[in-house]
Amino acid sequence: MSIHKVIIDTDPGMDDAAAILMALASPELEVLGLTIIAGNVSLNDTVRNACKLVALSGRRDISVHAGAAGPLVREQVFGKYAKIGSFSDELVRAGDVVPSREDAVHFIVRSARAASDAGEKITLCAIGPMTNIALALVQHPDVVRGIGQIVSMGGAFTALGHRTPWAEFNVYADPHAAEIVFQSGVPLVIMPLDMTFQALVTAEHFEQFRSGGAAGVALCNLFSTFDRSDVHRFGRPGGPIHDATTIAWLIRPDLFTGVKAFVGVQITGLTMGYTYADFYKKMGRAANATVMTDVDDAGFINLLIERIALYGHADLDTKTLGGPKS
Ligand code: RIB
Ligand code: CA
Repeated sequence: MSIHKVIIDTDPGMDDAAAILMALASPELEVLGLTIIAGNVSLNDTVRNACKLVALSGRRDISVHAGAAGPLVREQVFGKYAKIGSFSDELVRAGDVVPSREDAVHFIVRSARAASDAGEKITLCAIGPMTNIALALVQHPDVVRGIGQIVSMGGAFTALGHRTPWAEFNVYADPHAAEIVFQSGVPLVIMPLDMTFQALVTAEHFEQFRSGGAAGVALCNLFSTFDRSDVHRFGRPGGPIHDATTIAWLIRPDLFTGVKAFVGVQITGLTMGYTYADFYKKMGRAANATVMTDVDDAGFINLLIERIALYGHADLDTKTLGGPKS
């Protein structure tokens, strides 16, 4: 089993919660830490939510690093569920994890340089607006030597947007950052709405999270409280858990189908945040990304449920869950 060294850059966020808990229970991933961005909700709330999730996971080895409070250039926008704010104690129990004094960009840069010095590379798992990652790439260009790939939940290429008719939220919230990341030259794997909309998680599914102890119950609480379904749009019950697809891909890439293409972001005008992919090679530009177009939705959902269930095995300590091996 190959182990991915991963930093998860995240704006928790319910689907971020699923991704984080899935990652922290998966031995295929060595999660170096969480870097936090404003997005679904404000930075204060995303940091609080991330700390609660780390406490819930029992992974005392995981650090939380606060990052940018807003986008690089555009005015700040928040997610559709911005009213969630901080996860209430009723939904996600209070914990005692506090953020590190080291900020997100510094942590990304230090981790990438350490990996490079060791002849290794890390994976950045971008499941929020990409401001932190863009800042790291622009302020410290040498970091690319230690970053093997960026796996990003973002964009909409054949699907219409959802935060606006033309844009997916993570890109819409900071299109300039997304374009910096897209054109950085770092190998890029993108999980767009085109694919995440195929895997709809229903109440029957998230009731199964309850077998995952306190972590699973909290995840079920979140998904039961905030309805993500949209039968009008999707034609069937259930809602996407966008961010968890990035973790599932790292664990089981065989569940996904992707196409290499040149991708970019519109950063001006009314449709700022629109993303395009040159699937038919009209632009003469070399592909800069692998865009995931299809997912085995049942396989993905079963993997998510299986990994959340691990939190319910009282005999499993955090090391078994995926923590550093002694
Ligand atoms: O468009 C979906 C993305 O926006 C997800 O990452 C969700 O958490 C929000 O950040
Ligand atoms: Ca997110």
